[in-house]
Amino acid sequence: MKKYDFDKKVSRLNTNSIKWDFRTNCSPKAQEDGLPLWIADMDFECADPIIDSLHKLVDHKIFGYSSNKTDEYYDAVCGWYKRRFNWDINREDIVFTPGVVPAVSLLIKILTEEGDGIIVQKPVYHPFEAKIKINKRRVVDNPLIYKNGEYTIDFEDLEEKAKSVENKLLILCSPHNPVGRVWKEEELKKIIEICKKHNLWVISDEIHSDLLRKGVKHTPMHSICGDYKDRVVVCTAPSKTFNLAGMQLSNIIISNKELRDKYKNEMMFTGVSMSPNPFAIVATIAAYNESEDWVDELNEYLDGNMEFIDTYLKENLPKVKLVKSQGTYLAWLDFTAYGLNEVELEDIMFKKANVLLDEGYIFGKEGVGFERVNAACPKSTLKDFLDRVKDAFKDM
Ligand SMILES: Cc1ncc(COP(=O)(O)O)c(C=O)c1O
Repeated sequence: MKKYDFDKKVSRLNTNSIKWDFRTNCSPKAQEDGLPLWIADMDFECADPIIDSLHKLVDHKIFGYSSNKTDEYYDAVCGWYKRRFNWDINREDIVFTPGVVPAVSLLIKILTEEGDGIIVQKPVYHPFEAKIKINKRRVVDNPLIYKNGEYTIDFEDLEEKAKSVENKLLILCSPHNPVGRVWKEEELKKIIEICKKHNLWVISDEIHSDLLRKGVKHTPMHSICGDYKDRVVVCTAPSKTFNLAGMQLSNIIISNKELRDKYKNEMMFTGVSMSPNPFAIVATIAAYNESEDWVDELNEYLDGNMEFIDTYLKENLPKVKLVKSQGTYLAWLDFTAYGLNEVELEDIMFKKANVLLDEGYIFGKEGVGFERVNAACPKSTLKDFLDRVKDAFKDM
């Protein structure tokens, strides 16, 4: 018997939702009734234990300065990763940061110098590039290989880029946003082998690690990188898994004490908050301790959503392909058969279909001709989206 109803449609209008209330940059019509399936949060209500924990806090009526430095907090985080991934995290390695993106930016500053090269694997989550550039470092692309509808890592090219002494850091997206790959253990081991050989730092952004298709296993980088752990930072958060992005809490795992101290100093120096807000703390504890069944049901629902998209496309829009999804709730759709450039495809989505997506090209030139669709919504919303796209492409 299912406990949660992911089919339930909940209006997010007038809730300060970036996805729903800030449909800027679009036509007036899109601002009014454009269907937004872009930024990565979910249109699902949170798990009951999270809601209960927040109610309890609200009822207490005091929201003063708070700290996560309690056994209850660390046990909740460490317990989750032990149960779900058999990953033993030392509690002293966990550093709260108000987001993975701020953490990536801080780490870029600490681990590299101006002008250094930082390797990313495009098409990839675009804030990586933004943070590299704003810190005056160079983006070095190790593009993923896209062949027969599947993405793999170009290890030869990675080795070439890693070899260059000017390149100091790899930012890995694991699982990968937007293409939905969950890297296999042997792939991760190969990455570490190359990075170790050429003395590269590694940031492994594992924010999507709990969102997995049936039968797919995520391997935390720290559980396989052996004695290279001191050069690998893993970024985790409850935000994607439990729909808590607005709480702004991430747990950055830094085993290297010297680096951890530097990181904390940099946080202090740049004025980044070093303690979570009280809502984030209770929500995180309730999420990791009591909401496991919700995540399992969510993953099942997302499996169904991906299947739904795939079947719909095969039956109604056979030129569009869903890239096989192994993880995340982001569907990566291949429209390249239409031969459209980025402006033409974007115009069709925004102006004709009236849907608001993350355009593939924002993830790098390798994403031109693709669309990223946030499938963390009720199936009826997906059906509405697919009907709009089908209609827009009917004469093409
Ligand atoms: C790979 C990846 N990293 C980081 C983030 C954002 O993290 P945060 O909100 O904690 O900065 C996202 C959000 O979509 C993401 O997909």
